[in-house]
Amino acid sequence: MVDHDGQRLRVSGPTVLRGALRVPGDKSISHRALLLAGLAEGTSLVRGISAGEDVARTRAAVEALGADVDQLEDGTLRIGGRGGRLAEPAGVLDVGNSGTGVRLLAGLASAQPFLTVLAGDASVGRRPMDRVAVPLRLMGAAIDGRDGGRLTPLVIRGGGLVGIHYDSPVASAQVKSAILLAGLGAEGETVVREPRRSRAHTEEMLLACGADIEVDVSQSRVRVRPCVLEPHDWYVPGDPSQAAFWLCLAAGTPGSDLVVEDLYLGPSRAGFLDVLARMGADLDVDEGSGRVAVRGSELVGTEVAPEEVPGLVDEVPALAVAAALARGRSRFCGVAELRVKESDRVATITSELAKMGVFVDADADELIVEGGRPLRGAHCESYGDHRIAMAMATAGLAAHGETVVEGMDAVPTSYPGFVEDLVRLTAEGG
Ligand code: S3P
Repeated sequence: MVDHDGQRLRVSGPTVLRGALRVPGDKSISHRALLLAGLAEGTSLVRGISAGEDVARTRAAVEALGADVDQLEDGTLRIGGRGGRLAEPAGVLDVGNSGTGVRLLAGLASAQPFLTVLAGDASVGRRPMDRVAVPLRLMGAAIDGRDGGRLTPLVIRGGGLVGIHYDSPVASAQVKSAILLAGLGAEGETVVREPRRSRAHTEEMLLACGADIEVDVSQSRVRVRPCVLEPHDWYVPGDPSQAAFWLCLAAGTPGSDLVVEDLYLGPSRAGFLDVLARMGADLDVDEGSGRVAVRGSELVGTEVAPEEVPGLVDEVPALAVAAALARGRSRFCGVAELRVKESDRVATITSELAKMGVFVDADADELIVEGGRPLRGAHCESYGDHRIAMAMATAGLAAHGETVVEGMDAVPTSYPGFVEDLVRLTAEGG
């Protein structure tokens, strides 16, 4: 039984997942396709873009920066780029709930000789912006904001940048990407090094646009020099972070049988599949086509090392659900970054799984889940966080009795069709 009014979801379990599906286009790639197409000299096409609200905000921002964006009949976007010279936006660029949107736009705007103001919702207003503002200021951008320039709204007077060599204190693709985007318009070379390699979309996509870029994988280092990008025809594959909710639940519920087609499984995005495999999941992964099939089985707990976290940073809530279903203890180490996402995910996943009778413990950068006891239905909260809402909805499908998830209105930021997919996959299972 599923009942949903946009704000509140009610599900009854336990149930299994059966069927095949495609998930929305990858959110990270979608943001970047819009930004790079807006910068490029000429016309780009973007097929399969995410229909989520975050990406729609970035599209609006790119239009406000002067790019022409229109939608063809089949949903493909056609984007007329500005050859590196964007236009000063007339108003505030509102990124909504999107941390990726605000940080990547901060990098882009820093290289432009005009004023850009970036703002978002209350959640974005709590997220740290100094991680991008500090290096962008070192390059020469004038950036101010609330709390001494650490919080949105950000007011950016860009232009006249000079390249830097930057050792980022965090493994963050958002930080790396902001610096690289600024570096495209900076004098000299810009080099970013990360403590661990984060997702590589910006590097991969800049290469496809003919950028002057060099990647040293062994050193987690990227160098870029100023250039005008070539346009590109992008195809956006499915988002593994959305698929993770279904795959983690199906993996831990015997009787489930699920196939997800056409996922992006590139560097630092598919780490959750390695963790599921270690837990004993019955997985079949075809890296070429991005097809992942899973049959439910009895999982066992595992330990996730800090080195693995950048490769599964958004999948911890989904993996925590798998851990709750698995026999024994799972430990997620080095997860402090989760505390500065759309919610403090260490705290929110802990409180919500505990309501289902799961023993969960957390400290500053560790999450421990004792799994294997039957989950019981509960009244859960999303805390305005799409991934917490989806994690709890899937946990509810595995739990005995009724689960209510409040705050489902957060979900369309990344996955507008989530509830429709839930209904279909459980109906096929029923
Ligand atoms: C993203 C990077 C990640 C991730 C976010 C999307 C990106 O953030 O959590 O959802 O598209 O660059 P960090 O790189 O800051 O960890």
